[in-house]
Amino acid sequence: MIAEGDEGKYPTDSLRLKMHQITNQAELINSFEMVDAGGKDLPEYSAGAHIDFYFHDGRIRQYSLCGDPSDRKRYLIAVLRDLRGTGGSIDLHERLHTQRDVFVGRPRNNFPVHKEAKHHLMIAGGIGVTPMLSMIYEIQKTDDNFTLHYCTKSIDHTAFQPELADLVEKGRVVLHHDQGIPGNGLDIETLLKDHKTGTHLYYCGPPGFMGAVEKFSSHWPEDTVHYEYFGAPAKPVETKDAVNNASDGFQIKIASTSATYAVPENKTIIEVLAENGINVDMSCNTGLCKTCALKYLEGDVDHRDVVLSKKEQEEYITPCVSRAKSGLLVLDL
Ligand code: FES
Repeated sequence: MIAEGDEGKYPTDSLRLKMHQITNQAELINSFEMVDAGGKDLPEYSAGAHIDFYFHDGRIRQYSLCGDPSDRKRYLIAVLRDLRGTGGSIDLHERLHTQRDVFVGRPRNNFPVHKEAKHHLMIAGGIGVTPMLSMIYEIQKTDDNFTLHYCTKSIDHTAFQPELADLVEKGRVVLHHDQGIPGNGLDIETLLKDHKTGTHLYYCGPPGFMGAVEKFSSHWPEDTVHYEYFGAPAKPVETKDAVNNASDGFQIKIASTSATYAVPENKTIIEVLAENGINVDMSCNTGLCKTCALKYLEGDVDHRDVVLSKKEQEEYITPCVSRAKSGLLVLDL
């Protein structure tokens, strides 16, 4: 959503698109279809990708692309009007109209389909269904081996019903409604009890749902479990170590120059780098997207993101949220 004079304040590779269609998909959920004003193809993306949506007041929000990735003419997102959020979704629902110009980032994908899987088991909670929709389009192009369990409060809260009707009929998409009563919907524990070789799990949804799926899939091989948060998870209970870190602060050292900077309790690494003239690309600023990831060479990292895999955490840090457990962290900059 842009205002007069906004041109130039977004990243140089961002895309100026036209809001072509807004459709009510379910209670509190609208979809937004964006196209190139001149009808050109849009940059390609793969299933599970998301885009940054730039607001003219500087806010950036990430939304999964939920259309068919082979359709180069449009980007489709769906947004839940979140009254407890920070206003991005409310602005989209209340202030955005068709024919308005919007700026978005190029698609990035932290949640791809794993082609080596023999079966794709997807579990979506509410608006977490959006990346799964593009995954279904992509999976159906090569094989048909997937099941989506789509959990919502009621049928009125279930988006994209016309698109899913045929798959619901065939049993490939299973709808679960809990009427807002915890424990009344999908039995996640039973569903995930046994891991079948070759099955990959994908899940996305609100924090409580994410916690439940994480807990009941903890015995699955790590490389078969894939997830994406669409909001920062509830703050973990602070360990003694974390409390000590927070009060003590730590140092970061730039490997190429040996310059050393203090990161106090009330600042992030990315803020300290920016204050010293080192600008790191970032997007979500909450540990969800991986845009800011930097290599580190020495030190013990207190990883606070929800996007890096255990393997990636051995090499990378997300400086927008993560900190150090050790007194010094050497960054490969
Ligand atoms: S900016 Fe998204 S993880 Fe740091």
